Amino acid sequence: MDRPTFALPPIPPRVHRVLLFVAMRSEADPIARALGATDGTARIGDAHIELLVPGADPVLGVDRLGPVHAASALARALCSARPDLVVNMGTCGGFESQGLGIADLIVVRDAMFHDARVALDGFDALVRAHTRLSPSASQLEAVAERLGARTGLASSGSSLDATADELALFRRTHTLAKDMELAALAVVCREAGVPLAALKGVTDLVDHHEPTHEAFLRNLTRTTDRIAQSAAAFIGQLV
Ligand code: ADE
Repeated sequence: MDRPTFALPPIPPRVHRVLLFVAMRSEADPIARALGATDGTARIGDAHIELLVPGADPVLGVDRLGPVHAASALARALCSARPDLVVNMGTCGGFESQGLGIADLIVVRDAMFHDARVALDGFDALVRAHTRLSPSASQLEAVAERLGARTGLASSGSSLDATADELALFRRTHTLAKDMELAALAVVCREAGVPLAALKGVTDLVDHHEPTHEAFLRNLTRTTDRIAQSAAAFIGQLV
């Protein structure tokens, strides 16, 4: 089997507790303001929302980015309390060839890793598996229509930039969003049996010649504002 698909549990009919994972403080602040989550918590309908941000490395002082820190922070949080739903919001690289532009939104259908290669029977399938996130096809369609978003595949890795091989993989798989945490969160949610949904906003175009970090920094505020404006509607539609 080339690319098996793991499936996360569906979103339950009643969601009382949502854990909202955002990788960077600069992404989380506008979302927290938009949700009125000044103390890191908010309420949407009957659901209690709790913001989870991995925070800064104590030595280097920069946000703990990337799949390893994402998985570690979520696994620790799940030990103390079990949410009904984990939501990931944040920025991503998008793809001009897929018709995406800066600040466009993607409601993620499934997640994979693009920088995992293990030339051993079975192990390669494990590291390259897709994980189908929790929203049903009709939930994906409804929330995407409400937000004016696309739905599709997101791919995660440890790097902000992309290699030529990875670009070819993105083309083959019709990837819409490239990020640094979602597939790792999906592994933790699968092992814990917790549903997961994700909303991504495009800060840079992976298949464009401009260096990724320059586009990322230039568009960060615009894109995080767009995600923040859509945050309550995204969660409200799923709970
Ligand atoms: N976050 C925003 N842009 C990204 C990119 N190009 N790759 C990974 N994560 C990102």
